[in-house]
Amino acid sequence: MASSQTLTTLFILSLLSFSYAASAPFKLPKPKAIHLPIRKNQTTSQYYTTFESGHPESPTIIDALIDLGAPSVWFDCTTYVSASYKRASCGSNRCKKAKGLSCVGCNSTPRPGCSNNTCGVFAYNPFHDYLTIQELGEDTIRVYSTDGAYVWFSYDVPKFQLSCADSLTIERLPGDHTKGLVGLARAEISLPSQISSFFKLAKKFALCLPSSSENGLGDVYIGGGPYYMLPSIKDQSLSLVTTPLVVNMFGTGPIISEGESSVEYFINVKNIEISGKRVSFSPSLLSIDTNGVGGTKVSTTAPYTILQSSIYKRFVKDFIKEASLNNIKRVNSVAPFGACFDSKTAPNTITGPAVPNIDLILEGRNVRMTLYGANSMVEAKKNVICLAFIDGGAEPTTSIVLGGHQLENYILEFDLTSSTLGLSSSLLLQNTSCSHSRVY
Ligand SMILES: *[C@@H]1O[C@H](CO)[C@@H](O)[C@H](O)[C@H]1NC(C)=O
Ligand SMILES: *[C@@H]1O[C@H](CO)[C@@H](O)[C@H](O)[C@H]1NC(C)=O
Ligand SMILES: *[C@@H]1O[C@H](CO)[C@@H](O)[C@H](O)[C@H]1NC(C)=O
Repeated sequence: MASSQTLTTLFILSLLSFSYAASAPFKLPKPKAIHLPIRKNQTTSQYYTTFESGHPESPTIIDALIDLGAPSVWFDCTTYVSASYKRASCGSNRCKKAKGLSCVGCNSTPRPGCSNNTCGVFAYNPFHDYLTIQELGEDTIRVYSTDGAYVWFSYDVPKFQLSCADSLTIERLPGDHTKGLVGLARAEISLPSQISSFFKLAKKFALCLPSSSENGLGDVYIGGGPYYMLPSIKDQSLSLVTTPLVVNMFGTGPIISEGESSVEYFINVKNIEISGKRVSFSPSLLSIDTNGVGGTKVSTTAPYTILQSSIYKRFVKDFIKEASLNNIKRVNSVAPFGACFDSKTAPNTITGPAVPNIDLILEGRNVRMTLYGANSMVEAKKNVICLAFIDGGAEPTTSIVLGGHQLENYILEFDLTSSTLGLSSSLLLQNTSCSHSRVY
C-alpha cells in the first residue's frame, strides 16, 4: 500500500517536472522527422494541411491546400498580425533564392503583404487559374516532430520563406478555412526543402493521402521513416518499391521560366494493364518529348487521374470488357465519368468493390502500382460506382496525370537525393489506411 502510494507520488512528481521542463527554455532533441497532418475536403476532393505561423505568443493557425506541383508556401496576409514577420527586399539574396522576378510596391497602410521595394514572387491558385505576383516575406512557423507513429514536440522554424497573398488570390480554395497553399515541389523554398535544410534532415518526404479525414488524418512526413500505419506494427518505409523520378527539362506548371526544368514530379509509366492484360495505345505518349510534352506526373490537386484521350478511350473500353466478363452490370454514365456500374454487382472487399485490377507498370525491376476498387472506382450516386478516371483531351501537355483518388492509402516517398519515388502496396491490403490519430 505504502509503496504504491510512493510510486504514485513519484509518478506525479515526474509528470510535474516534465511539464515544467517543457515550458521552461530547455533544449529539445533534434527531430528525426517532421510531421504535418492531412485533411480531405469531401466536397471538392482536395487535401489540406495545418501549421502555425507568426509571433510565438499568438501564432496564427493556417489551413493550406497541399500542392505537390507548387514551388512555395503562401497564405492570405490581409488580417495577419505577427511581430516576427519580415519582408524581403528587392534584389536580396533571399529574393534570388526564391526566384523573385520583380519589385512590388503597395499604396495602402503598411502591413505584411503591403510594403514598397519588396521582392515579388509568383503564386498560382489552381482553382481559378489565377496567377499573381506577391510579396516575399519570412516568419517563424511551428511544426511537430514524429517517431513515425506519434507526434511529439513542437519546434519553431525561424526565417521560413513564404509569400503573402491577398483575398483575391485565395478565392475558391477548397474548405471554409483554407487560406493558403503549401507547395511540395522540387524547389528551394518548398515546404519540405526548407524543413529538411533547417533541421538537417534527409532530403525526402512522404505522403499518405487519406480517403476520408473524419476518423483520422493523413500524413506528410519530412526527413524519412519509419512510417507506422497502426494497427499494423510494420515499418512501411522498409518495404517500399522504387521507381526513378524523371526530371522534365521543360516547365509544365503555370509558372514557366525559360531554360528551367519542371518543378513537378514525373515518373515513367511503361504500360497499363487491366486484369493483367495490356491496354494498347501509342507508347510515344508515355515518354516526354523534346518539348516537355507527354509522360506521367503525380498530382495532389487533380482529384482523379486524367488520361490523354486515346489512352482514355481504350482504357475505358478494356475495363468495360473485363467488368462484363466478371458479371459486373453496366449502368448509365454519370458525368464526368465514362463508365459506371451497378455497385450491387461488385461486392465490397477489404480493398473496395470487387472490380478488375488496374496495374500501372513502372520503370524499375518488377515495379507495379496495383489499383483495387477503392482506388479505381468512385461512388457517383446510390448503388452506382464509376471508373474514376477523366478524359484529358487529345493534346494535353502531360499524357497521364495521376490524381488524388488513385493515390489514397498508399505511401508515396519522394527521395530527392536518389531521385526516386518509393511506393507501398495498398495499405488496405494490410487492413490499415492513411487515416490515423497521431496524438499520443
Ligand atoms: C509606398 O510609397 C508610396 C510613394 O512614396 C507611398 O505613398 C506609400 O504610402 C508607400 N507604401 C507603404 C506601404 O509604405
Ligand atoms: C469543403 O469545401 C467546400 C467548398 O469550398 C466548402 O463549402 C465546405 O465547407 C468545405 N468543407 C469543410 C469541412 O471544410
Ligand atoms: C481488419 O480490422 C478490423 C477492425 O480492426 C477487424 O474487425 C477485421 O477482422 C480485420 N480484418 C482482417 C482481414 O484482418
